[in-house]
Parts: sequence; structure tokens; C-alpha cells
Amino acid sequence: MKRKKNAMPMIEPMAGPVTGGMVIYRRLLGYLRPYRGLFLIGVLGMALFALTDAAFALFIKYFIRDAFMHPNPRALWAVPCGLLVLFVMRGSGDYLGTYYPGRVGRHVIKSLRSDLFAKYLLLPTAYYDRESAALMLSRMTYNVEQVAEATTNSVKTLITDALTLIALLVWMFVLSWEFTLLVLVAAPLISWLMRVINRRFRRYSARIQASMGDVTRVAKESIEGQRVIKVFTAEAAQRQRFDAVNEHNRRSNDKLINAKAISSPVVQMVAAFGLAAVMAVAIREVLRQQIAVDGFLSYIAAMLMLMGPLRRLVNVSGQVQQAVAAASSIFDVLDRPSEPQGGDHPLARARGDLAFRDVSFTYTGTDEPVLREMNFSVTAGQTLAIVGRSGSGKSTMVSLVPRFYDATQGSVMLDGVDTREYALHDLRRQIAYVSQDVLLFDDTIRNNIAFGLGDVPAERIEAAARAAHVMEFASELPQGLDTPVGDRGGLLSGGQRQRVAIARAILKNAPVLILDEATSALDSESERHIQDALAELVHGRTTLVIAHRLSTVEQADCILVIESGRIVESGTHAQLLAREGVYAQLYRLQFDA
Ligand SMILES: Nc1ncnc2c1ncn2[C@@H]1O[C@H](COP(=O)(O)OP(=O)(O)O)[C@@H](O)[C@H]1O
Ligand SMILES: [Mg+2]
Repeated sequence: MKRKKNAMPMIEPMAGPVTGGMVIYRRLLGYLRPYRGLFLIGVLGMALFALTDAAFALFIKYFIRDAFMHPNPRALWAVPCGLLVLFVMRGSGDYLGTYYPGRVGRHVIKSLRSDLFAKYLLLPTAYYDRESAALMLSRMTYNVEQVAEATTNSVKTLITDALTLIALLVWMFVLSWEFTLLVLVAAPLISWLMRVINRRFRRYSARIQASMGDVTRVAKESIEGQRVIKVFTAEAAQRQRFDAVNEHNRRSNDKLINAKAISSPVVQMVAAFGLAAVMAVAIREVLRQQIAVDGFLSYIAAMLMLMGPLRRLVNVSGQVQQAVAAASSIFDVLDRPSEPQGGDHPLARARGDLAFRDVSFTYTGTDEPVLREMNFSVTAGQTLAIVGRSGSGKSTMVSLVPRFYDATQGSVMLDGVDTREYALHDLRRQIAYVSQDVLLFDDTIRNNIAFGLGDVPAERIEAAARAAHVMEFASELPQGLDTPVGDRGGLLSGGQRQRVAIARAILKNAPVLILDEATSALDSESERHIQDALAELVHGRTTLVIAHRLSTVEQADCILVIESGRIVESGTHAQLLAREGVYAQLYRLQFDA
């Protein structure tokens, strides 16, 4: 389901608990629709398999008639050849019925993954704040695979065995409809049992998927936090945490396996009542010479052959319920509202006039506002410094500019227009952002600098690298700018990562620049080094700079002092010092240190 790109804010249905297995299954089948041709080949194969399987019962009738009851020399050839033909057809059906649904299943996995991935890219920052990354990953790997199971193996069983069942029942009906009615008395009881069992299957499956998310989460935390674990010697505690989720996962699986294992024998027991009734009546008929032996043996063979498909059909319902539970958790995410995509106010390159008008902001799920009625403006090209204690709301303030979050009240204006009126992409193109915790991708330094900018001439990348003093360390590496930085940039030091991020911002050449403690990971030496690079970068751009070292903010055109989400002072460095207020106090505190 592709959503048409819409300039206006998208209003999507709120995610609620997805109800009804049928609704989910039908939606899942929607993913099969593009491959219905392939799938049809598979179904034909399954039908061929089912019919030839059932034909075996028919074969037995003629085998017994021609070989024993009315010996016929033709049977010497006809029977073995017939058997071979039957099995060649059965084998072809088996191949078609296995390969094509399998192929379709992988397509479905791919579509589901790509839909999920596309959705992940569109989900608002607030979603990421609450959802664990591990759960998002396990949804994409584990849950999606489970869904595929239902669209391949389960569908195969469902169709093949249902067809076999029907074909066998029809043949049995032809042989003796009275007997078949006896067999069918068990049917309502079986279908009721199946409903009860299915409900359990679904409940257990949902539990397993959630616990799979827990397993991934704890494992991921421990892998990423290995240094912290080592230095705090928290291995034992961490193992305990893992054992707990691991055990919970095992126990949930255990319940499901138990339910699966018990369901089939129970259903077969019920079916056996029908079987026993037929046997009793049939034996009486044979005793009274009322029934022919060939038909009777064929009938018994068909009835015994019924048991296999019946067993698999009962088992498959477990898989289907697992898939429904998995699909439900996937669709739940797909139905979540995306980030509002903004309006259609044209914006090629902003001048860079930035203003907050009565901006208040509260994080979703909390009551206390983090920003309260903020008012300020920055003229294009000027630098605004934001100063305040940790937790006062500085990062939150600047994150409203690229619309990571939207103001709960008031508006953030760019060039005199509410930022929500620009298309989100246009708005974000105007902003370069360097934060405290720089994330680099597992790629080369060069590609990390040019990230998201498409094809950039090598000279421009190198110029940016030089300006941000990346060249200083890159030139000493064996492959220079083409050296891979490792997972999350782990092969570089914090300061080196930050310099790469600064080079990225220089290359982006956006009219608005946000530096959120961008130089915090640099030692004073390197910081002094890149001061001139930053001065170069800041020149001619509207800059919001948050810095814990006040020396970097002294040059700003205006300084805002924030306390508990309020602007308590504003002015230039000299003005604020003269005021002898919060800023002067902060400044002196740092100076003493
Ligand atoms: N994603 C979030 N969800 C809820 N509260 C948050 C979130 N991010 C930050 N906060 C809270 O908002 C307040 C301001 O945080 P922040 O803007 O990061 O402060 P600063 O950058 O000035 O240190 C803090 O009290 C913090 O706990
Ligand atoms: Mg911060």
C-alpha cells in the first residue's frame, strides 16, 4: 500500500489494536496480489499433487480388481506403468507447489521489509524516543520471516491438504455416501476444536514475538555497552538479565509447542470416532456380503490417507496464527502516523531569518513543559548563542528548527513563515546540524562527509575536509579520506568524528547552521585549531550555537540564557557581564575552573 505523496500534513488512522485474524490475513494476501501469476502456478502444482495423491486410493481399487478379483493380463503392464505416471505427475506437482509459493514468499518478505524500512524513515522522532531499536529490528527480521512462513509453507499445506482432503472425501462419497456421512459427523466437533486451539496459538505467538524483542534488546545493549559492562564488572548481572528474558522466551515457546503437539492427536481422536463407526458398519456389510472388497479396501485406504492431511491442516493453523500475530505487529507500525510532511510554501534557499514566537513545548508522554513561551529572533547571517545548565532545554530548542519535534504552542518561523508551511524536505535542506554525539555510518571518511548530498566533486569534499581539519588526521591514515571509519565511526576518536561532522556541515553549505555542543569532544588544542574553521563556517549563515565553553560564545551577536525552558537573559557578552546576572555568574564559575 503506497501512500500518495501529499503536500498537506498527512492524517493517518491512529494505530489501534488490530482486530480480527481475517482482516489481517486479507491484508497480508494483498501483498501476494502482484505475484498472483506465480502463485497460481504454485496452486496448480498443489492441485496436481493433491489429485494424484487422492488418485492413489482410486488406483488401489483397480489394482485389486484387475489383479485379484478378476485377474486381467493387461494389469501386468497397466498397473506398474500407471503407478509411475501417477508419481511423475505427483512429483511435478510437488515441485511447482513448493518452488513457486516459496518464491512468492520471499517477494512478500522483501515487500514487507521494504515497507517497514520506508515507514521507519518516516516515523517521527517521538516514536524513536519511546520504541526500543532492538524491537524495531526484531520486527524487521523475526516477525517478517514468520509472516513468510504463512504465505509459503502454510499456504501450501492449506491448499494441498485441503484439496487432498476434498478429493479423498469425494472419492469416498462416490464409493459409499452412507459411510461418508458417518465420517462427517466428526466435522463440527473438529471445527469447534480448531477455533479454540487457534485462539491459544495466536496468544502464545504474540507473546513469543514480544519476548524475541526483549532477547534482542538485552543482547544489543550488552554488545554496544561492552566497555561499560567490563569496567563495572557487570557481566554476572547482565547475564542474569539475559537469562531472564531468554527463559521467558523459552517458556512462551514451550507453551506454543505443547499446544501444537496436543492439538493434532486430539483432532485425530475425534476423527477416529468417525473411522470406528465406518469400520463397524462396513464389517457388518462385508459379513453380509453386501459390499465389494475392491471398493471397500479403496475406501479404507482413502480414509487412512485422510489422516495425514488432517494432521497437517491442524498443525498449519498454528503457523497461520503465528503469522497473523506477527503481521499484526507489522501492520500496527505501518499504520502509525508518519511525520507531518509540511505544506507547500515554496522554498529554494532560505535567507535565514529565524524566529521563535511564543514557543512552548512539552514532550509526548510528559506533563511538564520543557520550553515555555520563548520569544526571540535572529537576523539572517547572525550568530545566536544559547547558554544554560544541563537539562535547561537548549537541545530541545534547536531540535524544533528542523522539526524533529513540533512546538506544542506558538511557531518557529523561517524567513517570516511558519516552518510547518514549507515542505519538510525543503526546510531540512536549509539546515546543517552538528551535534554532541556524532553518528558516522560504516563507510569511508569521504562518503561520511558527502553523506546525503549525492554526487559531489572530490575537490569540494577535500576542501571541506581541509577546512574542518579532517585532513590533519586523514592524511596520516593509509588510505587517507578513503579509510573506513568502522561501525558507528568506532575507529575514530570522538574529536575526529566531530571534525568529520563539521566537514559534513561545511560541505552542505546550508543557510542555517546548528551547533549543539559541536566541539565538546575536542580537546582545547584541537578546538583552537578548528575555531577558524568554525569561524569560516559560521560566516554568512544564521547560526544557533550551544557550547558549554563560554569562550566559544563570546563572539556571538546575541546570547540567550536559558533556565528551566525560559529565556532569563539576553544580550551580547559585554551587556550580560555588565548585568551581573546568571550569565556573569556562569562565566565566572567557568573562569575559576
Ligand atoms: N525525548 C525526550 N523525551 C522526554 N523528555 C526529554 C527528551 N529529551 C529531553 N528531555 C527532557 O527535557 C529537558 C531538556 O533537555 P535538553 O533539551 O536535552 O537539555 P539541554 O540540552 O539544555 O541539556 C530535560 O529535563 C530532559 O530530561
Ligand atoms: Mg543538550
